[in-house]
Amino acid sequence: MVNMMTLLTSHWTDSRTPLRLFRLLVATLFCASATQALCASNDTGLSIITDKALGNCWACHTLPGQQGWVSNLAPSLVGVGGRYTPTQLQQWVTDARQINAQTLMPPFGSTQGLHRPASLQPVLTPEQIAMVVQTLSTWR
Ligand code: HEC
Repeated sequence: MVNMMTLLTSHWTDSRTPLRLFRLLVATLFCASATQALCASNDTGLSIITDKALGNCWACHTLPGQQGWVSNLAPSLVGVGGRYTPTQLQQWVTDARQINAQTLMPPFGSTQGLHRPASLQPVLTPEQIAMVVQTLSTWR
């Protein structure tokens, strides 16, 4: 107990402690801001979204927090989690034709009605779509 107290006291009186706390605060604010998507490197949904062989969503959509590449072919996905419920987002990604029969967005969870699809399997599995939807829902 005494050792613990000595340890704590010496830690809090260490002159570098305020500097460390300040750095931690800056890092936390930085990750909580628009760069949220970049800081969440273990975000599986985001890796599917940005993977050229999987979602490649940024070929058409602007994504929050992504620098260097911007596409305005489709509406920006910034704030999309506030515009749609998870069920609606799942419909958009699985087969946007359910929402707009004339859509330009490819169906990621269906090959139905496609002429000569590159593969008989949809681009994304239901599990991958669920992870994409989970990430989209956080974009508010
Ligand atoms: C080939 C271009 C293209 C790709 C790739 C694409 N989309 Fe889209 N998406 C569109 C277009 C165009 C729209 C606009 C609605 C329409 O045309 O029906 C749209 C609409 C959406 C919407 C509704 C947005 C709104 O604000 O109404 C969501 C959500 C969405 N896409 C998610 C995704 C995700 C997630 C991916 C990747 C898995 C993706 N899209 C890949 C073209 C694309």
